[in-house]
Amino acid sequence: MSNTPTDAVEVKAPIDLMAWCEANKAGFVPPVSNQYLYDGKDFFAMVIGGPNARNDFHVTDSEELFMQLKGDIVVIIREGDRLRKVAVREGETFFVPGGVPHAPTRGPGTLGLVIERRRPAGEIEHQQFYCDHCEALVHDQAFDCADIVEHFSCAMEAFWADEALSTCSNCGTRVCKPMPVKRIEFEPEIRIIREGEE
Ligand SMILES: [Fe+2]
Repeated sequence: MSNTPTDAVEVKAPIDLMAWCEANKAGFVPPVSNQYLYDGKDFFAMVIGGPNARNDFHVTDSEELFMQLKGDIVVIIREGDRLRKVAVREGETFFVPGGVPHAPTRGPGTLGLVIERRRPAGEIEHQQFYCDHCEALVHDQAFDCADIVEHFSCAMEAFWADEALSTCSNCGTRVCKPMPVKRIEFEPEIRIIREGEE
């Protein structure tokens, strides 16, 4: 029998999710605005607030499950050679299969849960940037999963600061460091408005 005896495992009490969010609200700060709810051996769960201030896409071999707890967000995904904005409304779940580049875009006051598989050292994941204007891939950075937590934010900052790296070779538009999301309009079409824009 290979299962660990249950008396060797600490079983945590259930968590009142919205009360936990309220108690931890000071920790939801840009650019990523996330906090760990569970940090397990097989998977982890993060609560992610808004606004966020990022325009990177994340690509992993593994799947991710989004559950939107409060407010509506947009997850931009790469399909074929196009970008598609998907509205994920309060109360909805959204499943991102492995290998799909995705960029969650979260407005102020929103809260969502994201569950991901623990990725072992040696597995590779990618941070990508796409052109706002022509939707071409501008930059792809591969990381060993062992290093990505430490290097993810630094790599974003380095990319935005590097004019050559962040300029689209297809059309010449630069991928700039984004301001926090101010609000998202969903009708008649999805429109993301950031601080300083109208
Ligand atoms: Fe472009």
